[in-house]
Amino acid sequence: MPVHEISHPLIRHKLGLMRRADLSTKNFREMAQEVASLLTYEATKDLPMEPYTIQGWCGELAAEKIAGKKITVVPILRAGIGMLDGVLNLIPGARVSAVGIARNEKTLQAQPYLEKLVGQLDQRLALIIDPMLATGGSMLATIDMLKKAGCRSVRALVLVAAPQGIEAVFARYPDVHIYTASIDSHLNENGYIIPGLGDAGDRLFGTR
Ligand code: PRP
Ligand code: URA
Repeated sequence: MPVHEISHPLIRHKLGLMRRADLSTKNFREMAQEVASLLTYEATKDLPMEPYTIQGWCGELAAEKIAGKKITVVPILRAGIGMLDGVLNLIPGARVSAVGIARNEKTLQAQPYLEKLVGQLDQRLALIIDPMLATGGSMLATIDMLKKAGCRSVRALVLVAAPQGIEAVFARYPDVHIYTASIDSHLNENGYIIPGLGDAGDRLFGTR
């Protein structure tokens, strides 16, 4: 199963802080962006490169650049916004495709409400970002949109993932790789990840 649990000490340390119920909104926000940067680093490790020639201080020399069209980052609103700057810090030229999905808290069904995708998706890698992969409904709805728009290469970056969400994504899209700081234990009866982070959107936006 293409799921990558990134167990770097910096990630484990920051995630431990994020799990603390007494962490301030400011610190939770900062950590979410920092962990997003670290996941981005891992998720882009194998990007294809192409050679080109540059003028260096001592004349012409061979260099390398990332091949192909610019990546699109796909934050799932609202909580995905909490990881966006962390990704853009490392990939400043990325194009942003915003997707709005709200999970109905009673039925746990994902309800799409916004789709603002960039063009030429058939030639771009899409990096979906969302702090939480719980039932997988929001992630699947987003991948559905991207695939329908012609995107052929999708990776998902989530702070915390539940086994149920990972399995749901794998069952429909076995080609989509998931990068996460932690695979947690399970979902509770309300569809919250245990131990998880609580309601990530509320903690990021201070709407608790
Ligand atoms: C949360 C979270 C994911 C989704 C995960 O968003 O950010 O998008 O739930 O749950 P799922 O895997 O069961 O679909 P929510 O819908 O609460 O909206 P928000 O981002 O506006 O807080
Ligand atoms: N959404 C969240 O914000 N947290 C969870 O644990 C599950 C869904």
